[in-house]
Amino acid sequence: MKVTVVGAGAVGASCAEYIAIKDFASEVVLLDIKEGYAEGKAMDLMQTASLNGFDTKITGSTNDYAKTANSNICVITSGIPRKPGMTREELIGINAGIVKTVSSNLIKHSPDTIIIVVSNPMDTMTYLVHKTTGIPKNRIIGMGGALDSARFKYRLAEALGAPISDVDGMVIGGHSDTGMVPLTRLATRNSVPVSEFISKERLEQVLQETKVGGATLTGLLGTSAWYAPGAAVSALVQAIACDQKKIFPCSVLVEGEYGLNDLCIGAPVVLGKNGVESIVEINLSADEKAQMVASAKGVSATNALLEL
Ligand code: NAI
Repeated sequence: MKVTVVGAGAVGASCAEYIAIKDFASEVVLLDIKEGYAEGKAMDLMQTASLNGFDTKITGSTNDYAKTANSNICVITSGIPRKPGMTREELIGINAGIVKTVSSNLIKHSPDTIIIVVSNPMDTMTYLVHKTTGIPKNRIIGMGGALDSARFKYRLAEALGAPISDVDGMVIGGHSDTGMVPLTRLATRNSVPVSEFISKERLEQVLQETKVGGATLTGLLGTSAWYAPGAAVSALVQAIACDQKKIFPCSVLVEGEYGLNDLCIGAPVVLGKNGVESIVEINLSADEKAQMVASAKGVSATNALLEL
């Protein structure tokens, strides 16, 4: 199993590290446009192998796509991250050009690969990869919901005073502060609805904290987060590589699902060796449906800024 990660920056390197530590891939290629950067990150990571006990071989490449040939999975993290006060949508100008070039180069060398898009604005970048590569929709996956759901569970556990492993919850919709749809109605603590444990007001606070989860970290760090994003990407890569058939909310091309068309937006999907094995349609309440429609409007408005 060969995995390429384009962009050896904060998220790319974190994701390569988690993939290696989980030890399911034979090879990870880190590629970056900055001279020597990916090679340096790969060497540093390889020097953790004997300490962390993995056999995954990590190599680096300065923009040489021949080194990525025949990758089973390619992750795109190349692009600029947001700074405090910026929205993800403001990154579109620079990142669209990068994502378009990078995805085209990847496909040339790995025509059968599954692509995971991370660069922001992620739903729009995922849509761009659909529009410009023409590869089947099951092989194009945007990572956002897995991260937002992890942040939701963190905030829920905090509010409940419960261990995170006892808490379950999912965030669907667009990967933006205004587009996320945390499904509080379906969130549980040991299978019991969370509304049994905390007040409506506290739940509303959890919801708001989840939506600005990325912005909160950007304010603290001066740039966007990398540990949880890297871990979320590695979980998707593992689900595909190991044909786990796990369900994650991912940004996928919708063709009628949730009453939506012609955009990529977060929905629960089964991930396996074919990438997106199926989209799961949850029976949403009227309010949740309305939130999904509003979220889709926001994503479509950003998509309209693309020069296709
Ligand atoms: P970073 O600045 O640390 O790393 C980006 C890397 O991309 C840099 O090393 C840069 O040299 C490289 N790069 C730029 N143009 C390139 C090209 N044409 N080819 C190859 N490499 C190129 O940024 P960070 O923090 O790793 O974030 C990366 C992206 O991921 C940003 O757009 C950020 O907004 C996004 N992100 C998305 C998340 C999600 O949930 N979807 C979560 C966190 C970040």
